[in-house]
Amino acid sequence: MKTQVAIIGSGPAGLLLGHLLRASGIDCVIIERQSRDYVESRIRAGVLETVTTDLLHKLGIDAGLNAAGLMEEGFNLATGNTLIRIDIARLTGKHVMVYGQTELTRDLIDAAPDRQLEIIFEAKDVELNDVESEQPFVTFTKDGIAQRITADFIAGCDGFHGPSRRAIPAKKIREFEREYPFGWLGILADVPPCHPELIYSNGPRGFALASMRSPTRSRYYIQVPLTERLEDWSEERLWGELAARFDPISKHGVTRGSALEMSIAPLRSYVFEAMRHGRLFLAGDAAHIVPPTGAKGLNLAASDVAYLSDALIAHYRDGSDAALEAYACRALSRIWKAERFSWYLTKLMHRFPEDGDFEHRMQISELDYVASSEAMQRVIAENYVGLPL
Ligand code: APR
Ligand code: PHB
Repeated sequence: MKTQVAIIGSGPAGLLLGHLLRASGIDCVIIERQSRDYVESRIRAGVLETVTTDLLHKLGIDAGLNAAGLMEEGFNLATGNTLIRIDIARLTGKHVMVYGQTELTRDLIDAAPDRQLEIIFEAKDVELNDVESEQPFVTFTKDGIAQRITADFIAGCDGFHGPSRRAIPAKKIREFEREYPFGWLGILADVPPCHPELIYSNGPRGFALASMRSPTRSRYYIQVPLTERLEDWSEERLWGELAARFDPISKHGVTRGSALEMSIAPLRSYVFEAMRHGRLFLAGDAAHIVPPTGAKGLNLAASDVAYLSDALIAHYRDGSDAALEAYACRALSRIWKAERFSWYLTKLMHRFPEDGDFEHRMQISELDYVASSEAMQRVIAENYVGLPL
């Protein structure tokens, strides 16, 4: 089989890239290791920047977003008993949309057949070959039969654990990494949110986030030590902890309900500084990870593929490779700023086991400054809504 762009991975990066290329008449195929059911049921974050919603509107894959997306004109930072509202609409003239990555992924997969975007699910043993040549190809097995797809370009959109990054020789790369000494324990439940807007709280019991998917579905997280196991957390214990962290500051108090999902995820900052090698281009989590504080992961995947699709379209339409040459540099400039903001918000809002009283006072003092300074609030708001492309 032959195509113009072989895309590895059907997360948000691969799916958005596939649709953007198809919208310009470019042939592409998405090769995904997991089943469609698996991909559609993964629970991830749910705050979309304008960069991301603009892509969905441009593609016309926005019926779900228009019907169920919640426009958020502000969010809150909290310390102890005080809420600091960041009025993003007033400070930036923009807003963010709450719409689950799970729903967005489903919308993009549902829209694929009508737009002749082929997705091959359950592709095993995916390998990238000859990426330095003019004729790279991807091999895999599907239903036990060996397959080969030759392409002009390969887009590595296969997340942090996929094979694409490893196809780039060690001598070309620079990696930057920071692991955090805690994870996020999350719960999703069909209960009304405790507050009309998101709250990121750094209270005496540690970090907690109150988020939502809809007026009747809540998403909460708390920071837990990396040694914590999910089995140690009954739903009851987690609801009790959330009530202790949010009841004093939320509008409605935490409503309990049975969990649709509970999980623990580690936090990491990571940048892989070689987003291109020959005819292979990386996008999304394949090239970088942010801690979820600030919800930048999906939005960075969207900005990467906005740059990459423009560059590939220029190659096919105008015969110009200037944008392909500039891709890594353009993408990394935005990635590093989002890395900085996610790291900053993580440092500001979590209790670090190695920190003493002094560092904690620094956090409290910074939050106090944020509460009193419109300039600080604007910096946070501008980064939260997403920097321009
Ligand atoms: N072969 C084919 N597909 C693979 C392979 C492989 N060997 N390994 C991984 N994949 C697939 C995964 O199953 C997944 O569907 O690549 C996809 C990568 O998707 P994501 O991990 O969602 O990454 P990305 O599309 O870059 O999205 C980034 O979404 O998943 C969140 O936390 C992430 O918010 C971030 C954003
Ligand atoms: C979520 O709703 O899952 C969410 C929201 C904001 C974040 C991270 C996750 O910063």
